Amino acid sequence: MPRSPEEQELNAHFAEEYTRAQSPVMLDLERAVCGCDYGGTSWTTRDEADCIGALLQLGAGKALLEVGSGSGWPALYLAEKSGCDAILVDLPFEAIRLAADRVAGESLSGAIGVAVGDGAALPVQSASFDAVSHSDVLCCLARKRQVLQECRRVIRPEARMVFSVIYVAAGLSGTDHARAVESGPPHVESECGYPELLEATGWDVVERIDVTAAYEQTGRRHIREVEARADGLKALLGEAEYADMLIRRNRNVEAVAEGIVRRDLFVAKPAEAI
Ligand SMILES: C[S@@+](CC[C@H](N)C(=O)[O-])C[C@H]1O[C@@H](n2cnc3c(N)ncnc32)[C@H](O)[C@@H]1O
Repeated sequence: MPRSPEEQELNAHFAEEYTRAQSPVMLDLERAVCGCDYGGTSWTTRDEADCIGALLQLGAGKALLEVGSGSGWPALYLAEKSGCDAILVDLPFEAIRLAADRVAGESLSGAIGVAVGDGAALPVQSASFDAVSHSDVLCCLARKRQVLQECRRVIRPEARMVFSVIYVAAGLSGTDHARAVESGPPHVESECGYPELLEATGWDVVERIDVTAAYEQTGRRHIREVEARADGLKALLGEAEYADMLIRRNRNVEAVAEGIVRRDLFVAKPAEAI
């Protein structure tokens, strides 16, 4: 599938993020902020991952697909905890290579596969998964509708999809809307609300959990823990990027605290399922 220059740039950005996330200071930061050390880039904490695992009712013999899996968080953690099989798909080769390395170094009981692939054209068979998940992925890509359609194609009729997404609150003034977009992830804007988008792509919403408050707390913790590792992070990133990281995170936390940027966890099932 041909990629726009914007998609290529984002892909290169994530490739760099995943590589850098493996440095000891970044892994230490991730442990302190999210309670894990997979080199993840979402705001899914260990508590949230446990919640996702329970909502998906994972277990041995179940097949999980994680779209936009990055280097394996949270899919490999969920596979380790539940014994499920898992397929991880993402675009940056570097992320998928790191996930494969982690699989090779662990003794997971389920079968694990990793693939470089596009969520909008998934390289997997139709109706082959008992569970689908993605963490803060739809807010990092433009083709949200196509990704949800593809997830719908590959899920089994009685299965569930659980995903987190960051979005701009509805009904904002032009100025607040612009501030929200500026402070969120690269594709935080969507053509319509997620319930509408899910319905249009063949999904029924089973549950919608507002995790904005937890997102704000995680962001505030991130700022504290970044400042506590200032020397190590400046050595890794340089002074300018370190300062920019804090400016961006502070701007985001302010927007989340104001409620103009929000984060929800959706549980959805295929619309035809009884
Ligand atoms: C915020 S990160 C979350 C990744 C991972 N689950 C984690 O927690 O670290 C969003 C991910 O979406 C991926 N992504 C963006 N566009 C994609 C697409 N079209 N298909 C698959 N993944 C995509 C990015 O490469 C990135 O790894």
